[in-house]
Amino acid sequence: MQEQLSSLLAKASAELDAVGSRPQLEAAKARYVGPNGELTAAMKRMGAVPKDQRPALGRLVNEAKGRLQELLDAAQRRIEASEVASRLGPPVDPTLPSPDPGPGTCHPLTLVQEELCRILRKVGFTVADGPEVETEFHCFDALNTPPDHPARDPQDTFYFPRAARFGNVSKHSPEERYLLRTHTSSVQVRTMMKGSPPIRIVSPGRVYRRDTTDATHSANFHQFECLCVDRNVTVLDLKALLDHLFAALLGPGTRTRFRPHYFGYTEPSFEVDLSAGHLPKVNKEWIEIGGCGMVDPEVFRAVGYDADVWTGYAFGMGIERLAMALYGIDDIRTFYQNDLRFLRQFAGAV
Ligand code: DAH
Repeated sequence: MQEQLSSLLAKASAELDAVGSRPQLEAAKARYVGPNGELTAAMKRMGAVPKDQRPALGRLVNEAKGRLQELLDAAQRRIEASEVASRLGPPVDPTLPSPDPGPGTCHPLTLVQEELCRILRKVGFTVADGPEVETEFHCFDALNTPPDHPARDPQDTFYFPRAARFGNVSKHSPEERYLLRTHTSSVQVRTMMKGSPPIRIVSPGRVYRRDTTDATHSANFHQFECLCVDRNVTVLDLKALLDHLFAALLGPGTRTRFRPHYFGYTEPSFEVDLSAGHLPKVNKEWIEIGGCGMVDPEVFRAVGYDADVWTGYAFGMGIERLAMALYGIDDIRTFYQNDLRFLRQFAGAV
């Protein structure tokens, strides 16, 4: 009996070593420990063994049973491991260099935006952020833009339905509507309401208008806003800052020019033109780049500042237009098409 058991184990061990799939394992299991299996048969034969030999034999059978179970378990673990390995594919060496093509580069709009921030950080401005979903108060009312102003027309501004809720964008009054901000000037309002003067901030970001897309217009573009609030701020400070900014960004040959204009939130207000003879796209011409002016006392009143104490200037400009002038780009749409042949040209530029 003992020999029978050890030869059964030797056979099972060789067979289970070769088992490579679940059906093969199930078949082997049935052959040894199933109701008609070989070990089951050996156990049945115990009945024929004289009584005094049974305990010793019982132990042998139990040992064999345990050993067989170990062999079955080992085969099962091997099969499971090979199933996992086949799902995972060939082994990976995480220390090898990435198979992806080299590191990415910054988008030209990001490059210009970051350069503008870098230049102004050096002269004492910090970067402020504001939501792209805005309220009528922050985008218009507080900026002294009355309800019948054309910029507020639904033909020009994207409004959300009255029922829309944005828990993370605070409203000034419950009745006002949410909209997609049409300019970054709304960040002026949020910053002034959150803090107290003196304030020197810049704020780059996305803005939205109901414009039909063409070579120079896009319903979604980027602006760069700047606000300075302090005592005794003058137009000279504003002009000096813009002169410095454009010379630092575009080169020392750059000149800026103010043309009188109207914005509700500044008084006086100007449009800013720049000329940069050394940039082929700009040439000797003046190109309009943004708006600016001295913060209107009405704006200070709206945010709770004493308009007799505080003065300030603000400006806002289109980042796309600046990038187009700087890099000689003709069509605004190329910024948004994600064509790597276009984007790669600006790797490391500015
Ligand atoms: N918000 C204006 C626009 O989108 C630009 C602008 C004009 C910003 C005058 C200002 C400013 O801060 O003072 O066209």
